[in-house]
Amino acid sequence: MNNPVRVNSWNSWDPLRRIIVGRAAGTMVQAPEPAVFRDWPQDGFPRGTYGPLPDDMVAAAEEQLDGFAALLRGRGIAVDRPEPLDFSRRTETPEWTQDTMFGCMPPRDVLLTVGSEILESTMSYRSRWFEYLCYRPLLESYFHADEAMRWEAAPKPRLTDASFHAGFWDEFEALGFDEQIQRVRANDLCLTEAEPLFDAADVCRMGKDLFVQLSLVTNRGGYRWIRQHFPEHRVHAVTFDNTHPLHIDATWVPLRPGLVLHCGERAADPEMLGYFKTNDWEVLEAAAPRRTRDDLPKLCFCSPWLAMNILSLDPNTVCVEESERDLAEQLSGRGFEVVPVPFWNVAPFGGGLHCATVDIERDGELQDYFPHRYGRF
Ligand code: ARG
Repeated sequence: MNNPVRVNSWNSWDPLRRIIVGRAAGTMVQAPEPAVFRDWPQDGFPRGTYGPLPDDMVAAAEEQLDGFAALLRGRGIAVDRPEPLDFSRRTETPEWTQDTMFGCMPPRDVLLTVGSEILESTMSYRSRWFEYLCYRPLLESYFHADEAMRWEAAPKPRLTDASFHAGFWDEFEALGFDEQIQRVRANDLCLTEAEPLFDAADVCRMGKDLFVQLSLVTNRGGYRWIRQHFPEHRVHAVTFDNTHPLHIDATWVPLRPGLVLHCGERAADPEMLGYFKTNDWEVLEAAAPRRTRDDLPKLCFCSPWLAMNILSLDPNTVCVEESERDLAEQLSGRGFEVVPVPFWNVAPFGGGLHCATVDIERDGELQDYFPHRYGRF
């Protein structure tokens, strides 16, 4: 490691010093499990089948990930990379067996940095139960290099059948839009409340405020666990009008103090909007993505809104996928330097520029950007 390691990051916009960029190698269309629905007959993976993503796709994704890492290093940012496991291996705990793991492209899902703490989230897919191991060599090295680092892990979940609603996917996919949204608002989705479950990527860090999206992978117990774990923060549970909520970072993306990018197609609840307005934040509706659902890369389980999944290098500089020119133009119009990064080949491996990274060090201290209370916030 070049620069000395100092774990410190309170938000997603302060000047970036060190980051982890994921890897695509070995990623699997994971074997069936209660929490995951995959059905890609045209692309060789009809429901119930599984296996490695094709070599040419892996190579194309690795090229873009390496290019992104080089771009960041060129700007003086230290970049660390995880160590993939053999994700094709069967794993088991005393309570279940899972035929494959998944991959380690999206570190954002697994690790949450809050100040000098790095927290390993529970995860809620059996195929991702062991994913933290890909990051352990880095976490160990940070722990040794930085005396002040706090290394934490949420309770490892059991993920027995009691953690999942049996038959959820068939039942849910048969519902109409309004009914699905009602279920999302009530967080009556795939996960039960048997145990606390969350992915780190459902947490949006804004200084003293942490916004936790209740989703397909984060339950109310997960939210409560996070709230109790960060007693110095205001921790809010939020939902959006998104039928398939999975990670908050293509829906609600803070850009700098006073400005947050919002996916207009996934309306925030009025009280959340009120909280931002009362505190003089502008909620900017993101330009529509250039991609449509029909021209996403094959085996992609994300939506075109991945366009919004941008990475801030500092409060005036954002990395945006290079073909997303409408968004780039919108952000330039707001005074941002936009750094274009080719990245759509990475999408089938689990996300965009924000998913593919996790902040380890940014300048700045803990600040309160929301001095005024509003409703339940
Ligand atoms: N589920 C989001 C969408 O399709 C993508 C977010 C992915 N984020 C992540 N951290 N893996 O719009």
